[in-house]
Amino acid sequence: MDQNSLAQALQDLPINDILYLPTVGSTNDEVTKQAQGGAQPFSLVVADEQTKGRGRSGRSWHTPPGAAIAMSLLLPTNRISATDIPKITGLGALAVCKALLGYQSAAQIKWPNDVLLAGKKACGVLAEAHWRGDELEHVLIGMGINVATQSVPPAESLNFPATSVEEILGHKVQRETLIREVLARLLDWWPKLKTSGFINAWENHLAYKGEDVEIRSTGESIKAISGQLIGLDEHGYLRLRLSTSEEKSFEASEIHLRPRVDSQAN
Ligand code: BTN
Repeated sequence: MDQNSLAQALQDLPINDILYLPTVGSTNDEVTKQAQGGAQPFSLVVADEQTKGRGRSGRSWHTPPGAAIAMSLLLPTNRISATDIPKITGLGALAVCKALLGYQSAAQIKWPNDVLLAGKKACGVLAEAHWRGDELEHVLIGMGINVATQSVPPAESLNFPATSVEEILGHKVQRETLIREVLARLLDWWPKLKTSGFINAWENHLAYKGEDVEIRSTGESIKAISGQLIGLDEHGYLRLRLSTSEEKSFEASEIHLRPRVDSQAN
């Protein structure tokens, strides 16, 4: 992959600026820097390697050279309110699932931000918003996809099993083509972010639906709550049926979901 091959693969998409970097700390940080310098919405940064890739809850994200997709897209702020930010995470995960369907691969979303292939994590999404007081200054979405097997972090560093797209498909995948497919789906769903159709599509890809799950908060006090996963509410919060039969919705912020049958957490 290089600047030319990427630009060519994305030529039919309404992306304002495309920057390919052989190596960068984090594409989310690079897009934030661009936004602070006045970049247009739908500016894209793709890196072959990240040296300080970031995941949710301050975790690091592994992006070795030549093996993965690490990309961040600046989004428009004009129609976006605070309640839409969690939906942007869902949008990224949905776009990856839809793109992988084109490769005959059924992906699922481990709410809120992981994409699973054969039950293992192959992609993570990190949407970030920068506020000045009540005003949303920038909002961006970062996506990391394990494409080749070398992009899967060593097993001992994982807190949830991981895989790669090529491991599941059994053949090579051109990264530029997969980037194009993901961005095309993302740009297609973006105008529908506030619709019930978007929530339904997101919900249709949820992993563990109808199953018993446990969610854990990782705030000051660690709390675990178990219940049956019902789906999503209109805000994209996770709906669980608790053992008392009461239904409750949970916001993503510091919550981590896992199936109840195994002991792996993320
Ligand atoms: C997670 O699973 O915790 C989210 C991982 C998000 C990783 C992507 S890779 C591109 C972008 N740049 C980053 O530093 N993080 C996101």
